[in-house]
Amino acid sequence: MALARRLDRIANWGSEMKMKTHSILKYAPVALMPALLLLTGCALETGNPRTYLPDGQTEAAGVYIEQCGSCHAVPHPQRLSAAAWKDMLAIMDKRRQERDYPPLTEAQRKKIMSYLDAHAR
Ligand code: HEC
Repeated sequence: MALARRLDRIANWGSEMKMKTHSILKYAPVALMPALLLLTGCALETGNPRTYLPDGQTEAAGVYIEQCGSCHAVPHPQRLSAAAWKDMLAIMDKRRQERDYPPLTEAQRKKIMSYLDAHAR
């Protein structure tokens, strides 16, 4: 009897382990997602933005890179829709204020928006 119970426990332990491994494997892709996103994000946004951004050599891109790459890496324009970029620019206006950056001039804003409009997702 005692032996049967022990064997039973050993058998159960085995299947529990299997289940655990199984569920870990099941969630591995979800758990790894942030790391993967980070890696691909970094891969896309290292190097010279003039080369990896669409129309990176244009004057508008130059303004975009200069004004939107001084606090963080220049975001790829394909990240957001044109409408979402408009909202994002309003948020970034606040970030500039908080950090005592001078506000964008109308000319800069126009160039940045024309660049983003042309290349948004
Ligand atoms: C004065 C500093 C500053 C400048 C200049 C600035 N940003 Fe930001 N930006 C921030 C900060 C701080 C954050 C992170 C916190 C937040 O989301 O507000 C951020 C976050 C972002 C994000 C989200 C990043 C992500 O990983 O999703 C985007 C997109 C972005 N900025 C776009 C822009 C664009 C476009 C411009 C140019 C118009 C710009 N930023 C200029 C400070 C700045």
